[in-house]
Amino acid sequence: MIGNSLSKEFDPIKAPATQGIEDPAKQEAPLCALAKGGAVHDREGRQDSVGHILTFQTVEKIIYGRGSLSQLSCEAARLGRKALLVTGMSSLKRLGVLDKVIRPLQGKGVDVVLFNKVEAEPSLRTVELGIEEARRHQCDLVISIGGGSAIDVGKVVAGLVRAPGNVREYFLGKREIVEKGLPFIAIPTTAGTGAEVTMNSVLTDPEGLVKQSIRSPFLLADVALVDPELTLTMPPHITAYSGMDALTQAIEGFTSKGSGPVTDALALKAVELIGRNLLRAYEAPGDIEAREALSTGSLMAGMAFASARLGAVHGLAHPVGVRYHKPHGLVCAVLLPYVMRFNLPVVARKYAEVAAALGAGEAAEAGIRYIERLLDRLGIPRKLGEFGLVENDIDAIARDALPSGSTKANPRDVTYDDLVAILKENL
Ligand SMILES: [Fe+2]
Repeated sequence: MIGNSLSKEFDPIKAPATQGIEDPAKQEAPLCALAKGGAVHDREGRQDSVGHILTFQTVEKIIYGRGSLSQLSCEAARLGRKALLVTGMSSLKRLGVLDKVIRPLQGKGVDVVLFNKVEAEPSLRTVELGIEEARRHQCDLVISIGGGSAIDVGKVVAGLVRAPGNVREYFLGKREIVEKGLPFIAIPTTAGTGAEVTMNSVLTDPEGLVKQSIRSPFLLADVALVDPELTLTMPPHITAYSGMDALTQAIEGFTSKGSGPVTDALALKAVELIGRNLLRAYEAPGDIEAREALSTGSLMAGMAFASARLGAVHGLAHPVGVRYHKPHGLVCAVLLPYVMRFNLPVVARKYAEVAAALGAGEAAEAGIRYIERLLDRLGIPRKLGEFGLVENDIDAIARDALPSGSTKANPRDVTYDDLVAILKENL
């Protein structure tokens, strides 16, 4: 289920936005998709998607597995002649991007313009700078290599470089992307956000203390290139946070109101791959088999939730993260057991499948306890209060989280009072 909405968060329950687009030919691809989703849960947590129309959409080409970075130069040469290479400063140094990426590209006749200014929690201004750079050098291709931030920035730079208006107008939902921009190749170096296969870009407006998405199917990458060898140098705490983000996305994608058989298959396998290998990669960073499982699991979780959407963990994670400047994956990790306990009455059957996929047994509750033990082993706090949450902020956080598309996709309907209760448990 997709919509052509660029606004904050697409509501999977309502019909897709159709206003403001005049050319019917341009409407057809994204807008003929329904978006009435998906799963209905009975009291025992059985799910019934019969009679509901679902749409599954993902990137055109996914290349994954050890050593797959070697395919980049061929793919790039197929798509363009001058690439804006979007990355962060630390990735540039850590990965030796010059040797691994730029020289092979040049060897295939692809010129490279380096844009290495992406920060954590990227701002609208960073995207504007990237667009200016791509226009000045007349780039015809964008390649992102890095974590979710670098991929999200490259995604919007590619999407908007030929579009009218400014980034803020798209961020605020005043304009919509109505056609594909430049070709885009996404190469994650964490496992991960799944950003390489999603159609949204999470950006921050520091002026308004707002963190939300620009969302459009036109932002889907042309190629996602997922090489687990790029994740070998991730520090343990980044492995833990990004891995818990991926696990949360797999579980929320598996149980969301927009889930269905296609996304379920991807999401449940992702739970297994991530849940059984995260501690291994955290404790032995050079374990390539564990890294490969995490990269593939993160990719599959991203494919699932891009169509199925997420849940209340992600609804809360953005307003919490933007207030306390904590990594997204860390915030998701802390919230996950609380939201799972809240959801348990309506998705017991599916949580039993999660428990089995984790290797934790057959009982739904056992999967939640497994995750709590995993957090302890990863050195992740069990309450948001340990890194800043105070009672005075709870009202504002709950109000910010309530209208989020992720909150609306949560399998159990969520009220303001429910969010307040979850946050109070976290003090
Ligand atoms: Fe996430």
